[in-house]
Amino acid sequence: MREHSIAAIGADGIGPEVIGAGVRVLEALQQRLGDVRFNVTSFDWGSGYYRKHGVMMPADGLQQLKPFDAIYFGAVGAADIPDHITLWGLRLPICQGFDQYANVRPTRILPGIATPLRDVGPGDLDWVIVRENSEGEYAGNGGRTHRGMPEEVATEVAVFTRVGVERIMRYAFALAQARPRKLLTVVTKSNAQRFGLVLWDEIAELVSRDFPDVTWDKMLVDAMTVRMTLDPKSLDTIVATNLHADILSDLAGALAGSLGVAPTANIDPQRRYPSMFEPIHGSAFDITGKGIANPIAAFWTAVQMLEHLGEADGAGRLMRAIEIVCASGVMTPDVGGKANTQEVTDAVIAAIHGSNV
Ligand code: IPM
Ligand code: MG
Repeated sequence: MREHSIAAIGADGIGPEVIGAGVRVLEALQQRLGDVRFNVTSFDWGSGYYRKHGVMMPADGLQQLKPFDAIYFGAVGAADIPDHITLWGLRLPICQGFDQYANVRPTRILPGIATPLRDVGPGDLDWVIVRENSEGEYAGNGGRTHRGMPEEVATEVAVFTRVGVERIMRYAFALAQARPRKLLTVVTKSNAQRFGLVLWDEIAELVSRDFPDVTWDKMLVDAMTVRMTLDPKSLDTIVATNLHADILSDLAGALAGSLGVAPTANIDPQRRYPSMFEPIHGSAFDITGKGIANPIAAFWTAVQMLEHLGEADGAGRLMRAIEIVCASGVMTPDVGGKANTQEVTDAVIAAIHGSNV
């Protein structure tokens, strides 16, 4: 019996609803596969915890999480607490404290989900965006002086280190190499940002020599938005800085039909720490408690979690179950369906037990 320990942190808004649905799906997979066990422990951290204790998680939160094999995360954000408190109080300390430097965002048009692009269907858009997740524009390096005065100054300094750029570049080349098309696009803005992003270009060139079978090219981020929209088939694996990839991944989600189905994985490729898997969509308090949150992103990120845990068979089955259910039209209202969270979850569980996954 293979065993994996998973820390489930639903946190805020619809987070607990979709993570709860995801845990049910993991239980179904466990039953179906028979030789694997997911030992899930739930944590009540987040904005509710903050209202009671004044912090988003206990001071020893990271120590509590460290022994787990993976973290399954919902969302942070609440209407009555500033975003920088919720974000820097829970999600970012986990990403940074566990050095989850590779943020991996697959995008595909799932069957049954409509893209806003003309003449593009499932199969025409199949990307993985690799986002540098530890430095760059999110390094938190800057400050403000002379607040409120006419001479006020604010700096927001992006930080690019050789170690940081090289490790994400190697990750992206290796991922591209593992995918059938072996195609990588390195995104920068090295025409205008002539220090850090010229370093990106140089390191890409250097790392590419170790991956002779990967075809790669470079794009400036502005031109990249045009190519993603007008020529999606020409792209496969994409690597970009923290901020550039943040923006491109929203565009990717929209082009694939909905951010509501988009997953993300925050990975420590060296496996010194647990990696964290979450839907991209956020807490969505406008629909919290209504039971209509789309659980597909939480299921898809569970696929990424299973892959990371070495459960390729389970990952494949779950992805096929997701595709069968989307194709059958059992979907939540955000993607044009009439089903609620529980009905989509029940349908995915039924598909997992079905004969064609
Ligand atoms: C994302 C989100 C976050 C980010 C926000 C919530 C800070 O947009 O995961 O893409 O920019 O990293
Ligand atoms: Mg974003």
